[in-house]
Amino acid sequence: MSDGRGSKLRSLEPTGSIAERLRIQAAYCEQIGSPLYGGLLERGAADAEAGGLVADLLRGHEQDAADSMLALRLMGAVNRLVLRGEEPALADLYAAAERDPEAEWAEFATVLARNREQLRDLVDLPVQTNEVGRCAALLPGFLAVAAATGLPLRLLEVGSSAGLNLRWDSYRYAAKDFTWGPAGSPVTLEFELRGERRPEPATAIEVAVRRGCDAAPVEATAAAGRETLLAYVWPDQRPRLDRLRAALQLAADVPVEVDREGAASWLERQLATPAAGRATVVYHSIVLQYLSEEERAAVHDLLQAAGARATPQAPLAWLRMEPAGEMAEVRLTTWPDGEDRLVARAGYHGSPVEPAA
Ligand SMILES: C[S@@+](CC[C@H](N)C(=O)[O-])C[C@H]1O[C@@H](n2cnc3c(N)ncnc32)[C@H](O)[C@@H]1O
Repeated sequence: MSDGRGSKLRSLEPTGSIAERLRIQAAYCEQIGSPLYGGLLERGAADAEAGGLVADLLRGHEQDAADSMLALRLMGAVNRLVLRGEEPALADLYAAAERDPEAEWAEFATVLARNREQLRDLVDLPVQTNEVGRCAALLPGFLAVAAATGLPLRLLEVGSSAGLNLRWDSYRYAAKDFTWGPAGSPVTLEFELRGERRPEPATAIEVAVRRGCDAAPVEATAAAGRETLLAYVWPDQRPRLDRLRAALQLAADVPVEVDREGAASWLERQLATPAAGRATVVYHSIVLQYLSEEERAAVHDLLQAAGARATPQAPLAWLRMEPAGEMAEVRLTTWPDGEDRLVARAGYHGSPVEPAA
């Protein structure tokens, strides 16, 4: 699955040319802070045009769907070898404080040549991510529900990936004039909080239930799952990588269930009976675009129907962070009142967070 790219770039359809696909992703990586991948993909595009190693490796992928993110699958495939310790020279270049585009490309090309067969298989694997940073954008919504209801939360996350964002209350949040969460947490989300408004501090948060579903869940506590999630984070985005590593470690101490199931059928079962004495929060981040139109409509209808059954003793909230142009929107609908509001606008990886007025 993609890395939550904004709608502007998502609207660019693949042209069938491998080089153009790599160039589009190169520009995007440059734009949102990965000069390493920007440089490698730009050179990779030139190589593909010249019929070099990249063209050879990606032959047959010309018609792959746009959402399958061919360029990121290529980078993730190589990164798996780096993470496995099989390519130490490239690992050193990836980890270096200073960029050296020529040396990086030379070593990258050597790795492609040396691992051609293995990489052809690894490129087939889908991009899978679980962006912990998005918890900073969702936090104001969770706090608002807890403050308004005073009830323990029943968390139901749709499209949970590895379920890391089902542990949001175990993380420490730190921004200008705002901190929240356990001070000793190994996971600290430092983010830019814009404007004067601050999230509503709930007196206490109690999570009674944490459960999620995903069409293709990743096991956060298994080595293969950890490699998958780490492989698709851009290696020069150190803070992102560090908080993912920390969240993966913490995952072992905070168990969650992520069911392998599509959003609509799962929600139908979870919402069939209201949970008395709990505030049910259905939430998702960068997920709706992957659902079919029918499933999206079904999710919407299920929530409306469950909302109609909600009571002050069994309230329901729908919190979502989904694309809305350059930034994502975080919206919250609550029942039984049925109120819908914009909570914040946020960057696609969670920072900045701009609480709504
Ligand atoms: C871009 S990822 C976002 C993951 C996570 N919500 C986050 O913010 O890090 C999208 C997730 O949606 C899941 N997904 C795709 N189609 C789905 C469906 N029909 N039902 C449930 N999950 C789905 C994918 O497997 C993937 O884990």
